[in-house]
Amino acid sequence: MAPVESLSPPFSLRLFHPPDVSTIARIVSESLHEHYDTSLYFSLSQAWPDGFLVAADAQNRPIGFLLGVTQVPGEARILMFAVDRPHRTRGVGTRLMESFLAQCREKAMRRATLEVRVGNATAIRFYARFRFSVTDLLRGYYSDGEDGYQMARDVG
Ligand SMILES: CC(C)(COP(=O)(O)OP(=O)(O)OC[C@H]1O[C@@H](n2cnc3c(N)ncnc32)[C@H](O)[C@@H]1OP(=O)(O)O)[C@@H](O)C(=O)NCCC(=O)NCCS
Repeated sequence: MAPVESLSPPFSLRLFHPPDVSTIARIVSESLHEHYDTSLYFSLSQAWPDGFLVAADAQNRPIGFLLGVTQVPGEARILMFAVDRPHRTRGVGTRLMESFLAQCREKAMRRATLEVRVGNATAIRFYARFRFSVTDLLRGYYSDGEDGYQMARDVG
C-alpha cells in the first residue's frame, strides 16, 4: 500500500507482522485500557490476516491499527481500533477504516459491526461519519460497568 504524503509525517498501511506485537500491546493499553495476552494478536492475525491492518511510521513502527474478526458468516466485526495519541486527527484512522472496508468488500462481507463505549463521543462521531449507526445498547458491556453501543453498517 502506498505511503500517504502530506504536511504531517508520512505513514503507510500494511498487514500486521509479529514484531509489531509489543507496540500494538502498548497502544491497546494506553488507548483502549485493555491488556491481552500477546498470543491473542498472533492467533487473530492468522485467522484473518487481511483483517489486521497496521499504520506504520517512516521507521515502519506501528502508530495505529485496526483488528477485524469474522465470527459470523458474511459479517466482519471490528474488535480493536486505535491510533497512538500523538498521531491522531491526521487521517490515520480514516485510512485504516477505508482500507478495512475495502478488505471486507473483497471478502464479500455484507455487514460490519463494532462495539463502542457510550461515553466515547470521539469514536462514535468517527464511526457515524463512516455510516455506522447504533443498533443496540449493551448494558454493562465493559469490565468497569460502562454501557456500550453496538454499531453496524452494510458493506458496499
Ligand atoms: C477513533 C480513532 C481511532 C480515530 O483515529 P484518528 O487517526 O484520530 O482518525 P482521523 O484522523 O482519521 O479522524 C479523526 C478526526 O480528525 C479529523 N481529521 C482528519 N485529518 C485531519 C487533519 N489533517 N486536520 C484536521 N482534522 C483532521 C477527521 O475529520 C476526524 O473528524 P471526526 O471524526 O470528528 O469526523 C482515535 O481517536 C483513537 O484511537 N481513539 C482512542 C481509541 C478508541 O476510542 N478507539 C475506538 C474504540 S471503539
